[in-house]
Amino acid sequence: MRTRPLKVALLGCGVVGSEVARIMTTHADDLTQRIGAPVELAGVAVRRPSKVREGIDPELVTTDATALLKRGDIDIAIEVIGGIEPARTLITTAFEHGISVVSANKALLAQDGAALHAAAEQHGLDLYYEAAVAGAIPLVRPMRESLAGDKINRVMGIVNGTTNFILDKMDSTGAGYQEALDEATALGYAEADPTADVEGYDAAAKAAILAGIAFHTRVRLDDVYREGMTEVSAADFASAKRMGCTIKLLAILERAADGESVTARVHPAMIPLTHPLASVREAYNAVFVEAEAAGQLMFYGPGAGGAPTASAVLGDLVAVARNKLAEATGPGESAYTQLPVSPMGDVVTRYHISLDVADKPGVLAQVATTFAEHGVSIDTVRQQGKDGEASLVVVTHRAPDAALSGTVEALRKLDTVRGVASIMRVEGE
Ligand code: NDP
Ligand code: HSE
Repeated sequence: MRTRPLKVALLGCGVVGSEVARIMTTHADDLTQRIGAPVELAGVAVRRPSKVREGIDPELVTTDATALLKRGDIDIAIEVIGGIEPARTLITTAFEHGISVVSANKALLAQDGAALHAAAEQHGLDLYYEAAVAGAIPLVRPMRESLAGDKINRVMGIVNGTTNFILDKMDSTGAGYQEALDEATALGYAEADPTADVEGYDAAAKAAILAGIAFHTRVRLDDVYREGMTEVSAADFASAKRMGCTIKLLAILERAADGESVTARVHPAMIPLTHPLASVREAYNAVFVEAEAAGQLMFYGPGAGGAPTASAVLGDLVAVARNKLAEATGPGESAYTQLPVSPMGDVVTRYHISLDVADKPGVLAQVATTFAEHGVSIDTVRQQGKDGEASLVVVTHRAPDAALSGTVEALRKLDTVRGVASIMRVEGE
């Protein structure tokens, strides 16, 4: 057992960082045994130095994160500041000074993961980021390491806890979007500005990271098709229920049938109540992975929160510390397949379309013809009429998304179609 400690710089001490510091302190002896050397919290970089931080020696606190990294004795940096800058520059500085990095920063990894991995590799160092996707759930390491001998073909998951909480409330109580969002905010799930969550940016960043790992290719944030969930209505849930479905904000990553390309998307979708993801309640996350040899795997657990996220960070800290002692590094970026990311139009899926139409002879035929003209086959049609108007709900068979959206565009132009009340993809069947 080495007695000289590995020194750790904690960059950020907010929701996640404060829990990382607490666990490092309270579990110091166990961590020492598991790593084979003590890990010492050698400095804590924050923005507001005067804030009282329970359990943190004020002597360790600094506002100069760069100086902390450059002082010459740091072995590992834990970046839990978030956002692009100064996190990116600090991680780069760490690598330039021989420091391995653990980060929880999905936004940065989705945007600049390739460059950061290259910098880590250039300096013979580690970049670990289990906490960046789905909080406490072990997912990045199982996909990068445990499934490294298999071939992942599909990943479908709920990777944002805030939106799952909102959709779950809408489903279980019949609440509208705003009411459910207000409850999520009051309970501390949604941030004051919930845009990143409800518009799907947070999930898209996680999708980009997971797609890169799953398919051994580079998937940038811009490659991920993204739709938020702010338009999902109580009426959509009523329709979903009639179909034996619920609605989830899903991240879906797929290898094309010919294996020559991949797709990555985030959008709300109906899934059957019998699908394992349908039973993921509250702010939990779950990711369903389909691999060639392993078959179907489900990863489930808390996707956010200080302590759960710190658990993933600490797991990475132990792995990186062990690597340091062994003078080795863990797996770096694997992007050898260089598979292109196809546009959303190429995705093959099903649509649930709710139309307000005139209730008169020939309307159904006109609508059906429009679907046929776009090569989209109808699975079911349900019509309910009232006072010369009717609501028409069409569920299609699988077709390319471009054909489905072309159909909707054409339907909007029909005189007999008063409006397209909702469009929702149907997944997981
Ligand atoms: P917080 O906003 O709670 O904490 C951010 C910390 O960074 C604060 O301690 C802040 O200092 C510090 N900080 C901000 N700017 C600087 C700077 N320029 N120099 C030094 N320190 C700075 O964020 P979270 O803990 O919630 O999130 C951290 C990371 O973890 C993010 O990347 C996030 O995406 C990720 N994550 C978070 C989860 C969660 O549930 N919260 C779940 C999964 C991942 P001060 O305390 O003085 O304000
Ligand atoms: N805002 C994110 C969520 C935090 O709700 O899942 C975890 O990344």
